[in-house]
Amino acid sequence: MSAVKILIIPGSLRTGSLNVRLAGAIAREFVKLDADVTRISLGDFPLPIYDGDLEAKSGVPANAVNLKRMIGTHHGVVFVTPEYNSSLPALVKNAVDWVTRVEDRGETKGQVFRERAFALASASGGKLGGTRCLAAFRLILSGCRALVIPNQLTLSFADDAYGDADHLKHSADADAMHAMAKQLVDVAQHMM
Ligand SMILES: Cc1cc2nc3c(=O)[nH]c(=O)nc-3n(C[C@H](O)[C@H](O)[C@H](O)COP(=O)(O)O)c2cc1C
Repeated sequence: MSAVKILIIPGSLRTGSLNVRLAGAIAREFVKLDADVTRISLGDFPLPIYDGDLEAKSGVPANAVNLKRMIGTHHGVVFVTPEYNSSLPALVKNAVDWVTRVEDRGETKGQVFRERAFALASASGGKLGGTRCLAAFRLILSGCRALVIPNQLTLSFADDAYGDADHLKHSADADAMHAMAKQLVDVAQHMM
């Protein structure tokens, strides 16, 4: 069987982002599981805030089509996102909103969410580790009829969670990351 292809999408553009660092640690975990890993930045897919008038006038922006196709070339997708005000950042929600509007030839809108497996992770400086954000995100993706695996990673007190070379220094975090990655690989392989 060919290697399972995993796409990792951080939900922060910030220099020094805790979530971009976590995305790096997660990418290394997937490599250990022999997955073929791609990590992107949403900064490479800039999108206007969704506006139905804009869509009616100009169609779906090329970057939404590009992001949808990027997702479509992978078997599994991991969002690694900060929590903003108990939910997910506008950057991430807006990207999801636009991607659900893409209708490539021979496909229906939102099909890209229904044909692959998703996993969620969040790093936060606080105690809850982005738990509320991931609950909100699960609801959104279930509305897209995406398969979101049960295992997830919420990295609490993330300022103090990284050791040398950005590995996760607490064994509970490393174990949760491994369980999430292993489950996504297993589920994505069944969907290949
Ligand atoms: C607008 C805003 C709202 C935030 N709300 C929350 C929150 O609800 N829960 C939380 O744990 N952290 C919250 N934070 C703190 C972020 O978790 C923290 O800034 C984190 O480092 C952002 O992720 P990043 O480092 O990947 O950019 C918020 C930060 C911002 C800027």
